[in-house]
Amino acid sequence: MRRSIVTIATLLALAGGVQSAQEELDTDWMHAIEDANKSLASNIATKQASEASSDAKELADWFAKVQAYYQTKGDAPDAVELARKSGGLTQQIRQSIDAKDFDAATASATALSRTCKTCHNFYKKS
Ligand code: HEC
Repeated sequence: MRRSIVTIATLLALAGGVQSAQEELDTDWMHAIEDANKSLASNIATKQASEASSDAKELADWFAKVQAYYQTKGDAPDAVELARKSGGLTQQIRQSIDAKDFDAATASATALSRTCKTCHNFYKKS
């Protein structure tokens, strides 16, 4: 008997955890995005093509997750669009790096950082 009460309490706690995870974007994701974005900027600046390309790939994967998160959450069309745009910029960065066009890669990386700020202005509470 006691055991089933504990189980129900655990289930409720888990359900609550899942719900709050959906209400707020996980800040761990954003920390990973920030690290990858910094690494990308420095690898583009020092023309480390393969490292920069893998940073851009990592960012592309994160923005796909962010986009899916906002699509599931609903009621945030601007965030879906900004995540999609960010993902598109990471593709452009990879293409520029493949073409060894680091100026174009820098321009796209600058546009990407602006997209981060735009989304934060809309959706980041503090
Ligand atoms: C689609 C929207 C969106 C985009 C694009 C986006 N972010 Fe965020 N970011 C958020 C939101 C929302 C938060 C606040 C999360 C919270 O506090 O729950 C946040 C928080 C952060 C934080 C603070 C985390 C903390 O501990 O409070 C950092 C750092 C960050 N973002 C970096 C970036 C960088 C760098 C980029 C671009 C490469 C980026 N973000 C792009 C939505 C976005």
